[in-house]
Amino acid sequence: MVTDPNNPVLQIEDLSVAYVTNDGFVNAVNDINLTLYPGEIVGLVGESGSGKSTMANAIMRLLKGDAIVTKGRVKILGRDVYEMSEKQLRQFRWSKMSMVFQSAMSALNPVMTVETQILDTLTSHDKSMTKAQALERAKELMNLVRIDTKHLKSYPHELSGGMRQRVVIAIAIALNPSFVIMDEPTTALDVVVQRSILNEIRRIQEKVGFAILFVSHDFSLVAELASRVAIMYAGRVVEMTPSNTLSLMASEKHHPYTIGLLEAIPELTADEVIITGIPGNPPNLRTLPSGCAFHPRCPFAEEICTKERPVAVTVGPSDIECHLYSGKGMKQHV
Ligand SMILES: Nc1ncnc2c1ncn2[C@@H]1O[C@H](COP(=O)(O)OP(=O)(O)O)[C@@H](O)[C@H]1O
Ligand SMILES: [Mg+2]
Repeated sequence: MVTDPNNPVLQIEDLSVAYVTNDGFVNAVNDINLTLYPGEIVGLVGESGSGKSTMANAIMRLLKGDAIVTKGRVKILGRDVYEMSEKQLRQFRWSKMSMVFQSAMSALNPVMTVETQILDTLTSHDKSMTKAQALERAKELMNLVRIDTKHLKSYPHELSGGMRQRVVIAIAIALNPSFVIMDEPTTALDVVVQRSILNEIRRIQEKVGFAILFVSHDFSLVAELASRVAIMYAGRVVEMTPSNTLSLMASEKHHPYTIGLLEAIPELTADEVIITGIPGNPPNLRTLPSGCAFHPRCPFAEEICTKERPVAVTVGPSDIECHLYSGKGMKQHV
């Protein structure tokens, strides 16, 4: 894996994605800009239905159903993913960019052994690789994700949920990609296993050095793992902030939605666990509210928020889309 530290591994420019349905467009991803540098872990967090998976699938050019990219582009290692031929894409996907899906069971083939699945991934991309070389690499990968190599002979159903997810991670990094998207890689697992997989991801990433876009609805998990966090609401990245600002103790300014998420994290050190959360529900993506999509739930909303969509402005170390900081709002009290 050769990546220039100054050249982004991922550039998303003004990306919009919609599902075309009988009832009209579902605007799942709206005008997203995001850049990831080599070896960086960036978090993408937002409530269910905020468009995280749609964005992840769009990056991989693996959009499902009737989803279409309506605007913008995705570049991996400087190359536009949507301008590649099918053949170029096949060579690129999994070897330069890869993805870990939420459900390990659906990512693995139930009737094939772990060995066959890892070997298939290796040899289908590198025709010059001998069986012996592939087997050697498969063992190396099992060691990397800390599964006994005897399980190369196992079928997915013979492994625990945590082990299956480790196999999925091994397959995702088998070809040494520069960039891995992890879409809720631990959500299906219980809390203890979740923790161990998270530590595993951190350890492997430090060792191998690929960049990760870590997608989760779990704010505290993302804040812990990533160095920067993109906060997604109704298909938009409403804030991009370094993760060290994501504590109630930190003094940096945030988007009101981010503040709501911060307050929703139970404070484990406190005597009393208080979860305030954010009242109301995320909007229907078919009919987004006018102006700022968060305004119906925002305690600070003013008239301008109902009329004009805020553009991102730099506030301290963060980029925030909110009229509190755009200079157009009346009150400045966050
Ligand atoms: N195949 C589909 N057809 C129509 N709408 C869809 C489809 N898949 C997802 N959506 C809608 O797109 C929005 C974003 O979904 P998704 O990207 O899965 O969000 P997240 O991963 O943040 O939970 C949701 O409102 C969802 O209902
Ligand atoms: Mg999702």
